[in-house]
Formats: sequence, C-alpha cells, structure tokens
Amino acid sequence: MNRRANLFRRGPLPARRPGPGELAEGLERATVLDRAVGAVQKSVQKALPAGPLRDTLNGVPFGHPAHPPLTDLPIGAFLSVALLDLLPGDRRATRTLLTAGLVGSLPTAVTGWADWSSLHREQQRVGLVHATAIGAANVLYAASLVARRRGNEAGGRLLGYAGLTTLVGGTYLGGHLAFRQAAGTNHADPVDHLVSLGWHDLCPLDELPDGRPVTRRLGYLSLFVLRTGEDVDVLTDRCSHLAGPLHQGRITYEDDEACVVCPWHGSTFRVRDGSVAHGPATAPQPSFETRVLENAMVQVRPAG
Ligand code: FES
Repeated sequence: MNRRANLFRRGPLPARRPGPGELAEGLERATVLDRAVGAVQKSVQKALPAGPLRDTLNGVPFGHPAHPPLTDLPIGAFLSVALLDLLPGDRRATRTLLTAGLVGSLPTAVTGWADWSSLHREQQRVGLVHATAIGAANVLYAASLVARRRGNEAGGRLLGYAGLTTLVGGTYLGGHLAFRQAAGTNHADPVDHLVSLGWHDLCPLDELPDGRPVTRRLGYLSLFVLRTGEDVDVLTDRCSHLAGPLHQGRITYEDDEACVVCPWHGSTFRVRDGSVAHGPATAPQPSFETRVLENAMVQVRPAG
C-alpha cells in the first residue's frame, strides 16, 4: 500500500553526490579556464604550425590519432613501478621503468597538445585539466626517481604513489575526452548504414554551380557536391574530424588535385576520393561514385 502511494508522490528528489562523469561535465562548462585555454592554444599553434610535422603529430600518415597509443608506454611503465614497489628485491628495474615512463611522456605530450589545439572549447577545457594532471604526475615521478637515486627508497615510493593517484585522475579525464566528448573519433557519417546499395538520383546537373561546392541531401545524409564542368565529386558533408560542414569550405589544389579545406579546423580532403591531405582529421571522408545520365540527372553510389 505504502509502496504504491510512493510511486505517485511528488517532491524533491534526494540529494545525490555527483559521480566522476558529472564532475568532468562540470569542467566542460568551466568558463573560468577560457583565458588559460586561449593563451595555451596560441602558444601551441605558434610552436606547431600547420605542415608535415603537425600532420605527423596528429597521426595523418597512420590513419589514426598518434596520441592514444603513445600513452601506453608511460602508463604501462608507471603502473609497473607501482607493482614493483609492492615487492621486495632489486630496485634497478624500478628506476629503469621510471626513466622509460618519463622519456615516453615527451612524445605523448607533444602529440596530445597538437590534437588539443584543434578541439572545441568544451573539449579544450577538459583537455587542459587532463594535461595539467598528467604533467603534475610526471613531476611527482621525476621527484620519485631523484629520491631513489639519492638512496631515499621510502620517499621515492611515496612520491611514486602520489604520482599514480594524479595519473589516474588525469587518465580518467582523457577517457572522458575520448569517449564522452568524442575527441579523436571519426565524425563522418556511417554511409554503409545509411545508404542502400546501388545508384541513387541526386539532382539535375544544371542545378549545380560550376566550381563552387554545395550541399545536397541523400536520405539521412548531407553530401558535399562539387561540379567541375561535366565532372561531379561527392563526399559526405560532415567532416570526419569534428563534423564541420565541408560544403562551406574553400577549394584548393594539392599536387594538381582539387581538395576541400574544412572551415572549422582546416582539415584538407581530396575531393576525388576523400583521402586526407592534411590534418587534424586522420580518417578519410566517405566518397561516392558519380555518373550523369542522358537526361542530365546526376546519380551517386557509395564508393566501394
Ligand atoms: S571539423 Fe575540425 S577540421 Fe573539420
């Protein structure tokens, strides 16, 4: 009886302590970080200008962001230190692992900053705190190494566990960035799941302006469409980096190939096949085969 009455009773919900996910969401909205974000972004963009080095740091040659796999080395080394510190025995391995973790942190940090500088502001706020926590963990691990080298094993262990605690907090925010805020994932539309096999009518050829990209719908999809004379190139419109509208981008030429530059962060895709010419995007833009029928209707089908 009481149970049933409770079902319909209205009133304030009992206060609930926020979980880590909600705390991280709070960071997304922490505008107090914006001044620091702006200053750091300016420095990173100056230190890592667009070009081949920046593309490599973003992971363009590998087809995936370079930062996430690089984190495995320092995290693995530092976790191993925590385990070895629980065991008696030779301490040389611990010092070697600490050194390996600290050295491995350098390329990890540089690739992370390169990715961070081309994110949305909400992602950058979380990313800045993530990087600060990981930086603090590295300082603690460096102090731990120095203490051990000076023969202070107990102090070194204490500093190591302080580093681990900070590292866990920092990596949690890295996970929030990747999995909740989808930084580094592919944002292009999943064409295979949204378009059936075969040819589809798009629009009459003479509806397309020559040399200027426009957008057209195909079912659930927005498409980037570029007509050049009698040729038509078609890609999905949502940029694979962070879903920017490619049809609003400008057309450039790389090695005589027409490319579109995303208006949001400058990722550059070859319009012929959607491959990445420049990052920060690392995933290609899904492309379509096209043909023009005798009645001038443009048809498209997903490129295999
Ligand atoms: S959305 Fe970032 S480059 Fe396109």
